[in-house]
This record gives sequence, C-alpha cells and structure tokens, in this order.
Amino acid sequence: MSRRSARLALLTLAAGLGLLLLADGASGAEVKLPPDFPIRKSESSPGQVTFSHARHVAKVDTCSACHMRDLKMKRDASGPMTMAALEKGKLCGACHDGKTTLRGTRVFPLDQCDACHKD
Ligand code: HEC
Ligand code: HEC
Ligand code: HEC
Repeated sequence: MSRRSARLALLTLAAGLGLLLLADGASGAEVKLPPDFPIRKSESSPGQVTFSHARHVAKVDTCSACHMRDLKMKRDASGPMTMAALEKGKLCGACHDGKTTLRGTRVFPLDQCDACHKD
C-alpha cells in the first residue's frame, strides 16, 4: 500500500468510527442530556432544588423511568410540584419514598429535606 492510500484508508476508518459513535449516542438517548437546572421554587419552599440528569441517569436505567410517568420532558411542564403530590408518590416521590431501591441503593426519602432543598 502506498503512503497516500494508507492515509486514505485510515481517514475512512476514522470517519466510519465517528459515525458509529454518533449512532450509538443517538440510540442511548434520542435527546441530549440536559445540564443541571433549578426547579422553579414556590414561595413557601424551604430552599432551591436543583435537578441533575447526570446524577440520575447513573442510577436510573432509562429516560422513561421518569418521562413515561408524570415528569415531562420539558422544564416547568409537570404541573405544580408540591410536597403533597410527592408524598402521594407522584413526581420525585415515585422513587424518593424510602422504599425504592435502584442499583442496590435505597433512594433517600422525602424527610431528608436538605438533600433536595439547598439555600
Ligand atoms: C430521575 C428522573 C429523570 C430521568 C431518569 C430523566 N429525566 Fe429528563 N427530566 C426530569 C425532570 C424532573 C425534568 C424537568 C420537568 C419539569 O420541570 O417539569 C426533565 C426534563 C427533561 C428535558 C427538558 C429540559 C428543558 O430544558 O426543558 C429533557 C430534554 C430531558 N429531561 C431529557 C431526558 C433524557 C434524554 C433522559 C434519559 C437519558 C432523561 N431526561 C431522564 C427527570 C428525569
Ligand atoms: C426513577 C426514580 C427517581 C425519580 C423519579 C427521582 N429520583 Fe432523585 N434520585 C434517584 C436515585 C436512584 C438517586 C441516587 C441515589 C440516592 O442518592 O439516594 C437520586 C438522587 C437524587 C439526588 C442526589 C443527587 C446527588 O447529588 O448525588 C437529588 C438531589 C435528587 N435525587 C432529587 C430529585 C428530584 C428533585 C426529583 C424530582 C424532580 C427526583 N430526584 C426524582 C431516583 C429518582
Ligand atoms: C426528593 C426531593 C425533595 C425532598 C427530599 C423534599 N422536597 Fe420539598 N420540594 C421538592 C421540589 C422539587 C419542590 C418544588 C420546587 C420548590 O418549590 O422548591 C418542593 C417544594 C416544597 C415546598 C413548597 C410547595 C409545597 O408543597 O408547599 C415546601 C414547603 C417543601 N418542599 C418542603 C419540604 C420539606 C419540609 C421537606 C422535608 C420534610 C422536603 N420539602 C423534602 C423536592 C423535595
């Protein structure tokens, strides 16, 4: 193989790999993983709650674990997030109920206020 054709073969291989990686990323998550964001805070809230996709997808297998439930794939679209709703097992309360275990970790319960609410 000449040097030029060797270089060409290498380039083709690299491009192919790049495409493969892209395709793989697309099948893992149809939508790009959003960065951490603040959840809109109601007046009575004891402190800002920040939601982290990165921290969650490490422990929760699929997007649908949340997004096929009542958590919408759009910020501020899941209706009022009240503690009453969470205590009924809705929204964050579907897992943060002190009973749910995921990947061997018992998800911390709602009475650990400052695990979610920071000042
Ligand atoms: C542990 C629960 C959970 C999991 C798992 C999860 N999400 Fe989300 N996602 C949320 C919450 C909460 C919101 C905000 C909803 C709201 O504010 O009403 C959100 C919002 C989003 C948004 C909208 C962001 C914006 O700026 O409007 C996108 C896009 C999204 N998620 C994509 C994904 C993808 C892709 C996955 C899987 C790789 C995923 N989510 C897994 C909880 C989750
Ligand atoms: C599908 C289950 C599920 C839902 C729904 C869910 N969580 Fe979680 N959450 C987890 C798991 C699993 C962990 C990691 C184990 C732990 O820290 O207890 C976690 C961890 C966290 C952490 C700690 C992250 C860190 O810094 O390590 C916070 C804060 C949190 N969740 C807030 C929320 C909020 C707010 C919502 C609702 C908008 C929510 N979670 C909905 C399963 C869930
Ligand atoms: C798993 C996460 C999580 C935990 C743990 C948690 N909260 Fe919340 N809480 C939220 C989210 C999300 C909201 C909606 C955003 C906001 O208003 O800050 C909220 C809202 C609130 C509100 C305003 C809405 C309402 O229901 O009146 C109060 C008050 C509140 N929380 C108190 C508490 C107290 C007290 C504790 C501990 C006993 C606690 N929270 C534990 C996630 C959590």
